[in-house]
Amino acid sequence: MLGRVIRPPFEIAAQDSVRNIIGIRTRWFILTESGTHVKNCLASILNPLHSQFIPMRAALNYNASPPELNVRYLIISDIHSNLEGLEKCLQLARGQYDQAICLGDLVGYGPDPNAVVDRVREVASRVIRGNHDKACCGISDAEDFNLLARIGTLWTRQELTPERQAFLRELPSGPMAIDSFQIVHGSLADEDEYIVNATQALPVLRGLKTQTVLFGHTHHQGGFVLNADGRFQSIHCDSRNDGRTLVLTLEDGGRYLINPGSVGQPRDGDWRAAFAIIDEGKREVEYFRTPYDLPKTQGKMVKAGLPEPLIRRLELGR
Ligand SMILES: [Fe+2]
Repeated sequence: MLGRVIRPPFEIAAQDSVRNIIGIRTRWFILTESGTHVKNCLASILNPLHSQFIPMRAALNYNASPPELNVRYLIISDIHSNLEGLEKCLQLARGQYDQAICLGDLVGYGPDPNAVVDRVREVASRVIRGNHDKACCGISDAEDFNLLARIGTLWTRQELTPERQAFLRELPSGPMAIDSFQIVHGSLADEDEYIVNATQALPVLRGLKTQTVLFGHTHHQGGFVLNADGRFQSIHCDSRNDGRTLVLTLEDGGRYLINPGSVGQPRDGDWRAAFAIIDEGKREVEYFRTPYDLPKTQGKMVKAGLPEPLIRRLELGR
């Protein structure tokens, strides 16, 4: 971050208050308050020492097709107040990404809602809300949750400070467009909808307006592909090793529903924290898995008096 943009040179920036400019590798971006990127533009900043505009990059034609981007995005989802899981993912991903994005469910179930909200605010440039975020800040009630989830929600509501609850209340819902892809918590039509099988995934894939949609909510790492030749496939990651579990190339003509998995409460039979990195330049998605200090998280849950089944499920990955 270099400074405030004070002379927005483009219509989109004029309509929308400009927040700052950032440099990512060799390209420049203007970030507006609503998160809109204006790419490869003439970025002028006020030099704090000389109080004058300094052209940061030669003027480029905004109307021209944007050049290929090389941004690497860290994708995290369904953290569920699990600070140890989140910190381990961030540690493993360190140095491998340019921006972090969160697909929702920062809180609910786990023992550290305030600390997780703070950490996500610190690291993520874009965050959308999940169904547990809505329930834990009072946007929705927890009536459609099962008993254990409802107990976790009520406990989290008591723990969250008013300021963190206000942050959660103001989170946007998906879908949100980011460069070549979109992000959602559940699905495109409904943020609370689950996509867990072919019956649910196929209509979504056929209706995609972008090649790739990143989604969470199911806590299953992987996703679904509709290949250029019409073949449908589920994405399965190699769970034998820690670290990178799969590198998936986004082929021209293919359509992709990508799920990074859950950081804080995986339900795909693998207890390890999950995340993904999407590389816009290479057109690749890398999936990761990492062990974390599970006994520490469970110990905090015991101390907080959270229900035993919520504590046990973490070690089962269910
Ligand atoms: Fe979730």
